[in-house]
Amino acid sequence: MTLPSDITGAALVTGASSGIGRSLACQLAKRGFPLMLVGRDEATLRSAAHDCAGAGVRAEICAVDLAEPDAVKRIAAALDAAGMRVEILVNNAGFAVHGPVAAVEADAEEALVQVQILATLRLTRLALRSMLPLRSGRIVHVASVYSFIPVPHQAVYGACKAFMFSHAAALREELRGTGVTASLLAPGTTRTAFRSRAGLSPRAERGGMDPDRVAAEAVEGLMAGRFLIVPGLRNKLLTLAAGLVPRPSRARVMGAINARRGLGGHGGG
Ligand SMILES: NC(=O)c1ccc[n+]([C@@H]2O[C@H](COP(=O)([O-])OP(=O)(O)OC[C@H]3O[C@@H](n4cnc5c(N)ncnc54)[C@H](OP(=O)(O)O)[C@@H]3O)[C@@H](O)[C@H]2O)c1
Repeated sequence: MTLPSDITGAALVTGASSGIGRSLACQLAKRGFPLMLVGRDEATLRSAAHDCAGAGVRAEICAVDLAEPDAVKRIAAALDAAGMRVEILVNNAGFAVHGPVAAVEADAEEALVQVQILATLRLTRLALRSMLPLRSGRIVHVASVYSFIPVPHQAVYGACKAFMFSHAAALREELRGTGVTASLLAPGTTRTAFRSRAGLSPRAERGGMDPDRVAAEAVEGLMAGRFLIVPGLRNKLLTLAAGLVPRPSRARVMGAINARRGLGGHGGG
């Protein structure tokens, strides 16, 4: 498989050991991109690398916890050791934290900010250093339909996704004419381990898109250099409808939905 003419480097995918990140990595491999796969669990990363390498590309792994302050330095060292240059960056790693703001577990919430915000910023700066001189690259932040809606009982998760939207949109404008693009992937409910890992009830897990479909729409949008990639018709309609409603009202509706899902109430979640 040949590479698109303007992209010759590797794709760095965080959260590549499972779910959306794993599907994205394998679909980028099928398009011929060598991979650097990042996640905490070495065994699942190795199995993802094995799957992706089946497409005939090189797949390296870097097992790090992105909540650790030196994580991005360790990823930079792994790229150097592998002789890889980042030309596609997928900021995908994430997890859910839920509960009322006054009672949520502070350590988990702060780790979420480290992973979703600080690691995203550091990896983006690292990637831009290799992309800008070559006037070629793609960056995508994996956010959520929650980028458009304040989320009671998942307040910091929703705020991180809104941050990612704003950051990607601003970055995209800064990058105009540089040959590098920034995109935002905003999936809705997707059938991955995400909810069960967060201890969310099976009731909240029903439905959702297949991660391979989410990844297919993402890769197509990313390669086309589109900004906003919202996979699936239902999610597209949801984000359009959200734009018609004032933010406080969106928060009220979302609060009622999360209460029905059993996430509401102080001391609960
Ligand atoms: N599933 C959904 O319904 C949904 C909807 C909208 C948006 N999203 C977003 O999509 C992204 C991927 O989620 P998913 O559904 O694919 O969930 P998933 O299957 O649980 O995958 C999450 C990935 O992130 C990695 N990760 C988590 N914490 C990490 C840390 N501290 N350091 C390094 N890697 C870490 C995990 O690997 P390790 O455990 O090995 O570290 C795993 O590879 C997330 O950003 C999520 O917010 C998901």
